[in-house]
Amino acid sequence: MTSTTPQQGYLTDLFSLDGRVAMVTGGSSGIGRAVAGALARAGASVVVVARGEEQRTAVVEELTADGCRAAGVAGDLGSRAGVRAAAEAAAEVFGEPDILVNSAGINLRPPMDELTEDVWDATMAVNLEAPFLLGQRFGPGMAERGFGRIIHISSQQAHRAFVSSGAYGVSKGALESLARSQAEAWSPYGVTCNTLVPGFVMTPLNARLSADPEKVAALAARTLTGRNGLARDFAGAAVFLASRASAYVTGQSIHVDGGFSVH
Ligand SMILES: NC(=O)c1ccc[n+]([C@@H]2O[C@H](COP(=O)([O-])OP(=O)(O)OC[C@H]3O[C@@H](n4cnc5c(N)ncnc54)[C@H](OP(=O)(O)O)[C@@H]3O)[C@@H](O)[C@H]2O)c1
Repeated sequence: MTSTTPQQGYLTDLFSLDGRVAMVTGGSSGIGRAVAGALARAGASVVVVARGEEQRTAVVEELTADGCRAAGVAGDLGSRAGVRAAAEAAAEVFGEPDILVNSAGINLRPPMDELTEDVWDATMAVNLEAPFLLGQRFGPGMAERGFGRIIHISSQQAHRAFVSSGAYGVSKGALESLARSQAEAWSPYGVTCNTLVPGFVMTPLNARLSADPEKVAALAARTLTGRNGLARDFAGAAVFLASRASAYVTGQSIHVDGGFSVH
């Protein structure tokens, strides 16, 4: 029989996600993939929602091989019907989620003059409407059960213009406002709603920018840590926000950006 040290017990009480169910949109790639892995390794049963089957399956296989509980659900969050279908399919796997992470996002980056209504609509659908609709679907249930964690992933572009922020920056600004509205509604019932704010993170989302060594170096120089973000930099903050430890943290935008936002 293995015994638990007081230190392990203390950490378990604060941070363990044992018995929790998490839904991570965009959990098949980049920041979402790292967050899904962190929550699963901290004990949660994790459902990953994304369109592409290959990457989704790869994440689930990796986590299952590590002894975690994980499953994938195919979902296109680009339409309201798609969001609703994905939500129901995800809730069927391990039950209603205690933790909802909205990491799915798109950044189409046309110059402002060329920003069409189609680009605007597509951006708002995935980056803003899907988190809103998923909150409406799961937030009240979390409140009724007395525990819930909603974690959005916004962007430094919620706070400043950066490489054709266009519709993307607007969607991310609104997403942080959504977190505050949700926090106002559900925090009295044990549901915290917060946003993680990345700076520049080396993921497939910005493959074009990441392929330019001069730009990568210039962006790293704008941080205080001297390097750009990696997806795994979000693991600790996500576990904290998903855990009991963050019960008194709500409505906040927490920058995980190596100091990019204060430099
Ligand atoms: N990387 C950065 O520098 C950075 C900076 C600031 C903010 N962020 C934000 O961080 C979040 C994650 O970005 P990332 O860099 O990790 O991007 P990523 O590697 O491109 O991953 C995006 C994820 O979203 C999913 N997704 C996209 N459209 C979807 C749709 N219509 N329906 C369902 N799933 C969809 C993708 O899967 P499928 O394509 O298979 O559906 C993928 O799993 C995004 O919200 C992004 O805006 C990133």
